[in-house]
Amino acid sequence: MPHSLKQLIENSIPNIGMITSIEKGESEMVEDNDLKNLPGVGPATANKLKSAGFTTAEAIAVTPPKEIAEKTGIGFNTVLSIVTVAREKLGVDFITAEDLWKKRQNMQRCSIGSNKLNALMGGGIETQAMTELIGEYGVGKTQICLSLCVRVQLPIEEGGLDGKAVYIDTEGTFIPERVFQIAESLGLDPHETLGNIFLARAYNSSHQELLTDHLLKFCPENNIKLVVVDSMIGHFRGEYIGREHLAERQQKLNNQLHKLLRLTEAYNISVVITNQVQANPTAFFGDPNRPAGGNVMAHASTHRVYLRKGGKGTRIATVIDSPNLPEEKARYKITEKGIEDAEE
Ligand code: GTP
Ligand code: MG
Repeated sequence: MPHSLKQLIENSIPNIGMITSIEKGESEMVEDNDLKNLPGVGPATANKLKSAGFTTAEAIAVTPPKEIAEKTGIGFNTVLSIVTVAREKLGVDFITAEDLWKKRQNMQRCSIGSNKLNALMGGGIETQAMTELIGEYGVGKTQICLSLCVRVQLPIEEGGLDGKAVYIDTEGTFIPERVFQIAESLGLDPHETLGNIFLARAYNSSHQELLTDHLLKFCPENNIKLVVVDSMIGHFRGEYIGREHLAERQQKLNNQLHKLLRLTEAYNISVVITNQVQANPTAFFGDPNRPAGGNVMAHASTHRVYLRKGGKGTRIATVIDSPNLPEEKARYKITEKGIEDAEE
């Protein structure tokens, strides 16, 4: 496909990034020069951008202009025009519907473990998509993520994606012993399984962002087919308290979510994020909870799945928003093997 995002990213980064500089052995000259080649970017502006860490058109294109202006001291209108040019350079262009159809033929699905849950998700967790698991504490969001980290390593004919996993853990709840147990009960070598999961503990939202940025390079180099962010919003909720910080929080959250979305398309991988629920003061009937993160989360996620506890230790998953999945339910349970079907 001529305009795949992967190609566009690969084509655009070497033009101005470190890769060209290192390959040519020209230290940082090329990088500077190429940033200066962006219309409206003179030497002084290029230096300011570089000093603030914006060394590629890609970095400039995906960062909110306000943030670039704040970090570099460059005027907002100038930043806006640089960002526009950088985005054009990344090739936001038309493709035919036929191209898109072909691209979606490459989409794969990773088994979750429960047939009913797989069926609910159209056959498993999709690549080229971001799946959001929503639910209150203890419902089993992390358990599904851990199980996926194991199953993604299975061969395709066994429901896996024949790849490795990245786990961005914002709450310190990744439990290697549990992964060991799931792997062992599936007949896999638990040590090898653990060795194929790359874990990063994110200590705050900006650290989380740094790790997210790193994925664009890390995923293709390590055959990553699944990226988990557990939880996506925890740090944001803890750091931006009060209405006066809400807009900034949402902008930063949106920025990270879109970086993850681009990753799914660039490398045909699955991204799974977890989200908490918050009380909905306007609910007069039904579930008094709603997903945290507002419209930003709602719009960024491809598939949103709401998890709740059912009777007799079972769990019930409901698709609450998806472009192609019906809003149905599936009952499953958490077991030694990870996730399995539960009786209706
Ligand atoms: P928060 O991160 O607090 O929001 O919750 P969560 O939704 O991530 O919940 P988590 O995935 O940690 O689920 C915890 C629940 O999973 C426990 O209450 C147990 O019911 C279940 N669980 C955890 N480990 C096992 C296990 O080894 N076997 C079984 N059968 N159930 C387990
Ligand atoms: Mg959890």
